[in-house]
Amino acid sequence: MCYKLWLALACILFYRCNGNRHEVRKFPEGFLFGTSTASYQTEGAWNEDGKSESIWDHMSHQIPCSIKHCDTGDISDDSYHLYKRDVEMIRELGLDFYRFSLSWSRILPTGFPDVINEAGVQYYNNLIDELLKYNIIPMVTIYHFDLPQTLQKLGGWSNPHIVDWFGDFSNIVFRLFGDRVKYWVTINEPYYICYEGYGADIMAPQVNVTGIAEYLCAKNVLVAHAKAYHIYDEVFRPTQGGKIFISINARWNEPDGDDNVEAADDANQFFIMQYAYPIFSKSGDFPSSIKKIIAAKSKEQGFLRSRLPEFTPDEIEYVRGTSDLYGLNHYSTQLIYRNESVKGFYKIPSMYDDTGVFIYQLDKWLLSNSSITKAVPWGFHKLLTFIKEQFGNPPIFVTENGFGGSTGLEDNDRVTYYRLYLSVLLDAIENGSDIRGYTAWSLMDNFEWNQGYSIRFGLYEVDYTCPNRTRTPRKSAYVYKEIARTHKLDFEFEPNTSVPISALGEDGDENH
Ligand code: BGC
Repeated sequence: MCYKLWLALACILFYRCNGNRHEVRKFPEGFLFGTSTASYQTEGAWNEDGKSESIWDHMSHQIPCSIKHCDTGDISDDSYHLYKRDVEMIRELGLDFYRFSLSWSRILPTGFPDVINEAGVQYYNNLIDELLKYNIIPMVTIYHFDLPQTLQKLGGWSNPHIVDWFGDFSNIVFRLFGDRVKYWVTINEPYYICYEGYGADIMAPQVNVTGIAEYLCAKNVLVAHAKAYHIYDEVFRPTQGGKIFISINARWNEPDGDDNVEAADDANQFFIMQYAYPIFSKSGDFPSSIKKIIAAKSKEQGFLRSRLPEFTPDEIEYVRGTSDLYGLNHYSTQLIYRNESVKGFYKIPSMYDDTGVFIYQLDKWLLSNSSITKAVPWGFHKLLTFIKEQFGNPPIFVTENGFGGSTGLEDNDRVTYYRLYLSVLLDAIENGSDIRGYTAWSLMDNFEWNQGYSIRFGLYEVDYTCPNRTRTPRKSAYVYKEIARTHKLDFEFEPNTSVPISALGEDGDENH
């Protein structure tokens, strides 16, 4: 008896260690699968039907160009005209929801509510109605990086008046679309908006007032998000009954050895908690560690007050608790270390000088030589656990996760990436994280910001040489479809990509 028990245990261990077991894991009941895009990255039609210029139109039209290969989003995937094909693809994939964003300058060309562009409103009505026709839930991001250029002329996210401007825009879109939209994401990724757009010159509007603009922006983004939340909560939720939340991006910051635990914690505080703590913590406000560091450095540098603006006690309360879900965008992990040479290494003042850490990634995290996103699934697990522990297990919705690579339909690296990341997501659920849904970035290849079209994230490949921007499913589309259909993760499933994806029925077999 005892011998048999040991034998069984040994077998289980053998299979686990050798990865030979064929385990099929199930997602919880009610877990939602979807995919995501964003307006500037896919819509094109940059100046059609009354749309005005956004900061990305402005930046991409500058001479000399600052985007790889001088690419622009002028036409991009042409979703403004091809949205029916986009919805057809989501149907082909059999997904529960589609996350897309609204172009502020398409709906409000002046940036303000004095002019509402009917053609822009009609476009989003058409898209939402087309989704609902096929029972696909629309998840709408109100702001995904494309500010009207008129508002940028007034300082954009560094001007505190943007709290009202964003509040007005949100109010209008709740009024226009809230009868049908039940999932609202207020703002996508404060770190990229604020650090890369204002504290550096990587993303539009390339303000590059380092160490100052990113912090002004951080406070304004947080209060603006809260404003939209309160408007929805008080005015619209009682009749519309949806959910509203923010999407915060985060890489996991792993200490490079035991000596760097404090450095990695500082990285987490600056890169993640700066935006998450004011909303999701019990006490609200910016984390005290970053307040202290920035105040001390500012003083040393001759400033008369901290470069990090303060929240008033009322603002702390106004922002705290304003997210129904924790929207998480996650792609990769980085190693963090600190040594003496960090002093003076970064521009002074700057957020990276304030954080005082070095960052790197390991080549062995590449899935293959051609892949771009470094796959570190254990980092995703650590991040999910960190969020659970820091904020008392909030309901998490993964609003972005995906793999950047190159062209080609046989995207085995992307398939591996999705499987590995979904597998640790299941581990995290088993370990108690409350994760409600998963969003693959992206439905199709699109304009990858300052990288133009050089990096591809799509489940569908887009042919940019073709005027009708032909979309063709990659192998990952077949695999993701099977995961969503069965609600199961099976590493050994090999799709038959010679069958058109649209011909695969609800049982996964070819329709006859
Ligand atoms: C952004 C997307 C972007 C993706 C891949 C996220 O940071 O929200 O717009 O395309 O990452 O880089």
